[in-house]
Amino acid sequence: MERRSFLAALAASGVATNGVPARGETERALREVAAGKGMWFGAAAGWPLLRDNEIYARQFATECNMLVPENVLKMQVVHPEPERYNFEPGDFLAAFCQKHGMKMRGHTLVWHQQMAPWFQGVATRENARRLLEEHIRAVAGHYRGKIESWDVVNEAIDVKDGIAGGLRKTPWFELLGPEYIDFAFRAARAVDGEARLVYNDYGLDYADEGTAAKQEAVLRLLRGMLERKVPLDGFGTQAHLNVASREKFKPEALRKFLGEVAALGLKIYVTELDVIDQALPDDVEARDRGVAEFYEAYLSAALDVKAVVAVLTWGLTDRYTWLARRHARASGAPIRPLPLDREYGRKPAWRAIGRAMEGRRG
Ligand code: XIL
Repeated sequence: MERRSFLAALAASGVATNGVPARGETERALREVAAGKGMWFGAAAGWPLLRDNEIYARQFATECNMLVPENVLKMQVVHPEPERYNFEPGDFLAAFCQKHGMKMRGHTLVWHQQMAPWFQGVATRENARRLLEEHIRAVAGHYRGKIESWDVVNEAIDVKDGIAGGLRKTPWFELLGPEYIDFAFRAARAVDGEARLVYNDYGLDYADEGTAAKQEAVLRLLRGMLERKVPLDGFGTQAHLNVASREKFKPEALRKFLGEVAALGLKIYVTELDVIDQALPDDVEARDRGVAEFYEAYLSAALDVKAVVAVLTWGLTDRYTWLARRHARASGAPIRPLPLDREYGRKPAWRAIGRAMEGRRG
């Protein structure tokens, strides 16, 4: 079977395809580099891959001191029926983290996508508050003591929706109005007094007008929550990057934005980093170089901001990336957005992440 022959091949060669030393060889794993700087490196893990694929699991244990479930703590998976929760996959991941000395992030309690299949038919203005509170109490309560930080609310800003404060028109917004955000954080704090409570969003990476407007709206939201004494501890920036927009990335603009978040007293997480490579040539070396260059430029700037405590990529190996279909290459060549290649070998992007963390001033 694929996995067996693969294991055998890897064991036999010991070295990744592109000449970069493989696991356990001459270079320190990213988790060690991160730990040396008092921070975390992690990635989003797929289920049931982590349980069923030995090499995949081993790479997570080797490279990461933090893990975030890619899908299994989303409402759709964890809360499949109004009265039923499915904690089995999340429990496996939590046990994996404990076994390998990794922190676990929770993603995510409130999001407008991947909501429960039953939600639309059940939720009304009258019961929405109770549904939201029950969901949060059950899920965050179940994982109390096991989660370093929760993405309590994900992607609540979309200035294009034209709502005051730049809020997105989500199902929760439509049922509960803007207060749903504060309410969710308070409900999370009520059941978990220890996890850092994080607001997470995307589209905050570039120096253009659209980004600036979203950054402003995010800052306004965070500031408002703190003024209202909402229990908010951190901010997550997804950082799904695209080489096609490389020119629009300006280190000073990112430092300024993250510096403003830090000035609010919040910890910052780079939560979902990956780099879309469609704008680069098919040639693997050139492509890996271009992707790595963006990783390093982005992270060097972000890590200048002391409040940044963790870097997580959205996946670890190019073999499994949510971008495969969304950002397929015209030639059909597989995309290469992550630190490890399809054979789990360390890529230039892996080195770039390591260098950016190493280069961080104490
Ligand atoms: C993605 C997952 O990677 C996919 O497997 C799933 O089909 C859709 O969601 N922003 C987020 C993540 O906060 O939860 C998303 O994850 C990617 C974008």
